[in-house]
Amino acid sequence: MKKLLYIIIAIVAIVGVLAILRPTKSHASGDKVLVAYFSATGNTRGVAERLAGATGADLFEIVPESLYTADDLDWRNDKSRSSVEMGDKNSRPAVASTVEDMAQYKIVFLGFPIWWGREPSVVDTFLSAYDFSGKTIIPFATSGSTPTTEQADENIRTIVPNADVLTGKRFPSDVSADELKTWAGEWL
Ligand SMILES: Cc1cc2nc3c(=O)[nH]c(=O)nc-3n(C[C@H](O)[C@H](O)[C@H](O)COP(=O)(O)O)c2cc1C
Repeated sequence: MKKLLYIIIAIVAIVGVLAILRPTKSHASGDKVLVAYFSATGNTRGVAERLAGATGADLFEIVPESLYTADDLDWRNDKSRSSVEMGDKNSRPAVASTVEDMAQYKIVFLGFPIWWGREPSVVDTFLSAYDFSGKTIIPFATSGSTPTTEQADENIRTIVPNADVLTGKRFPSDVSADELKTWAGEWL
């Protein structure tokens, strides 16, 4: 009987030691997570809200100081505001919203609509405004048809070279909270 007790105590002790020694993931769960997004017509907003809701992350909207009108968004007009901004990679339209304490976040999911194959200039303003060194940025996007965030991923890496910018993902605007949770779960 005593022998059995010793065996049980030994097993409990070994399991305890293994639990302590278990290698932690590079992003141990418990890191604070932010879902930051820009959305001109609501599609990306819906995805961002579902992603934040499904993961328990904080949600932050990148709000341009001057909101985009339908005329501003006219991609057929090469003189529209969006066409002019997107024609200049150094364009940094002013933003009206600020993340309170960016230092607390280790992981930032960054959402946007694909404009001209990449992230809108106002997202570049957001990226230029904070110190992202040591943080992980995971882009996500909605689009009419562009299938990936590849061009955006590359641009983002150039703007924040000290961040770990992972391969992003384009979602249909009706992607479910469950699907988003599964996708994000890889890093949380
Ligand atoms: C100025 C502008 C440029 C766009 N360029 C692209 C593009 O290059 N590829 C694409 O698939 N969709 C493009 N779209 C469509 C948007 O990516 C798509 O409608 C997106 O879901 C809008 O997201 P939002 O509602 O969050 O703003 C563009 C839309 C606008 C307004």
